[in-house]
Amino acid sequence: MTYSIIDHFFDVIVVGAGGAGLRASLGMSEAGLKTACITKVFPTRSHTVAAQGGISAAFNNAEDGDDWRYHFYDTVKGSDWLGDQDAIEYMCKNALDAVVELEHMGVPFSRDENGNIYQRQFGGHTIEYGKAMAKRACAAADRTGHAILHTLYQQCLRHNTEFFIEYFTLDLLMDDRGICRGVIAWCLDDGTIHRFRAHMVVLATGGHGRTFFTSTGAHTCTGDGNAMALRAGLPLADMEFIQFHPTGIYGAGCLISEAVRGEGGYLTNSLGERFMEKYAPKAKDLASRDVVSRAIAIEIKEGRGCGPDKDIALLHMEHLDPKIIAERLPGMHETARIFAGIDANKEPIPVQPTVHYNMGGIPTNYHGEVTKDSKESVVQGLMAIGEAACVSVHGANRLGTNSLLDLVVFGRAAAIRAKEIIRPNTHHVNLDEHITKQILDRFDKTRRASGTLKTGYIRTQMQQIMQNHCGVFRTQENLDLGKEKLNECKKMLDDLQINDQSLIWNTDLVEALELQNLMIQSITTIHSAAYRTESRGGHAREDFPNRDDQSWLVHTLAWYDDNLNVKLDKRPVHMYTLANEVEAIPPQQRIY
Ligand code: FUM
Repeated sequence: MTYSIIDHFFDVIVVGAGGAGLRASLGMSEAGLKTACITKVFPTRSHTVAAQGGISAAFNNAEDGDDWRYHFYDTVKGSDWLGDQDAIEYMCKNALDAVVELEHMGVPFSRDENGNIYQRQFGGHTIEYGKAMAKRACAAADRTGHAILHTLYQQCLRHNTEFFIEYFTLDLLMDDRGICRGVIAWCLDDGTIHRFRAHMVVLATGGHGRTFFTSTGAHTCTGDGNAMALRAGLPLADMEFIQFHPTGIYGAGCLISEAVRGEGGYLTNSLGERFMEKYAPKAKDLASRDVVSRAIAIEIKEGRGCGPDKDIALLHMEHLDPKIIAERLPGMHETARIFAGIDANKEPIPVQPTVHYNMGGIPTNYHGEVTKDSKESVVQGLMAIGEAACVSVHGANRLGTNSLLDLVVFGRAAAIRAKEIIRPNTHHVNLDEHITKQILDRFDKTRRASGTLKTGYIRTQMQQIMQNHCGVFRTQENLDLGKEKLNECKKMLDDLQINDQSLIWNTDLVEALELQNLMIQSITTIHSAAYRTESRGGHAREDFPNRDDQSWLVHTLAWYDDNLNVKLDKRPVHMYTLANEVEAIPPQQRIY
């Protein structure tokens, strides 16, 4: 079938309207670049809206002696030394300006008694290299992402970013020289197909939490940009590093913010013990997330889980002053009531480690430019930022509140770079029609799929394989079995059934396209996990329990082709900084 195509010409196309996409769109528009932002959901419904506890910046508002260099140290340590130290330095140093800028744009941060931005404790954030916990998380109650997202959207409108809302981006337009020239998107509302030409495409499409059965991520977190990169023949980096948040609500998976523990909450097991004292004697409940999630998993495995199936831990905030809860944690109280049916002022919340964040993604340098090999050669015309990207500031484990920071710092960095390299309103080279046709052929084939298996069925199979074979603890045997099962699951897509062939609000087709995206990310994730024969950060191998800096102080790169082949390679970690204000930190033992 041939589709009629509506053509658009911009300097920059940003795909995704979460915190990173909006911050980049704003910067690009401000810089005088003709900028469009394409998004499959309304901007203020992007998943950044769900970010709760805060955004990190070492302001020292609590006068605890905080400094951005401690933030740098904590982030390197939190990453289990896999983070690129030049990028971490760039992020931590720019954090202060980035948050002040947000405040000036209108983000309604909570205030302390001196009228400064309110800062609370969060896991792994310390002063003086672990001596004491820092108050570094700048918070708008427990709805920080919501406050930031709304403000950024308003600012984009003010600066005339053009929005294409509820458009599903199908694929990148890559020319024969491997240069990105734009994207093809489908307008969900009226069924039209659009070709967006641009000198720069910025993928800000978020994470792929929905590769797993239980996730704090929205159902829209399907990593569409990552899948587009894979289909364009580009690699994804560090896909094995999946963050499990320790406190997802049992059953529902909704997030109960680390802010609860930052305000004095704590975890117990079935014996009523505060078990984190055993695993992290100093930081206890505020150790980094991989440490706390593994501790809960061990308590459950060793029979000290709570509840009828002994598979949960209890998170306590009932000892906190209800006034503090109402002021600083109102969303958590409400979430516990709606999704666990309990009054958190009176009883503990049942929680379980739940997939929360992807440290891996599209490899980039700290300007947001996508790189394509172990030499970090830049892909012309393509950037990636936010959770879609692996810059890599989070390495093997992200510290809480560093994700909101990553979004705004690297969204801004991408705009700075784009301004340097793009000449506004210049000519777009002609593009061979076969490039567009290939994309629309895949779309049409999916639309007309007349097999026997529904998207929901295949998706559940895939998510359960990931949950059971690529969870908190991993072994070669279980990962290899998962690889085989995923291959079989991928073949089910050949027998896909689409019931609705219309082009207007066809959610059946949207979900099928998202599933195709999820599937290839699941496959690259499990292959990357089987490849890395060590334990580091969020990747815990029972058969290789130690970190192995000799062989594995490297990022993983994974390419996928549609014949189920995954090619793997490594690239060195950046063990250097950009300026002499802070020195790179050589690997050390990681104890909390
Ligand atoms: O627990 C939280 O509020 C999550 C924050 C984060 O992932 O940065």
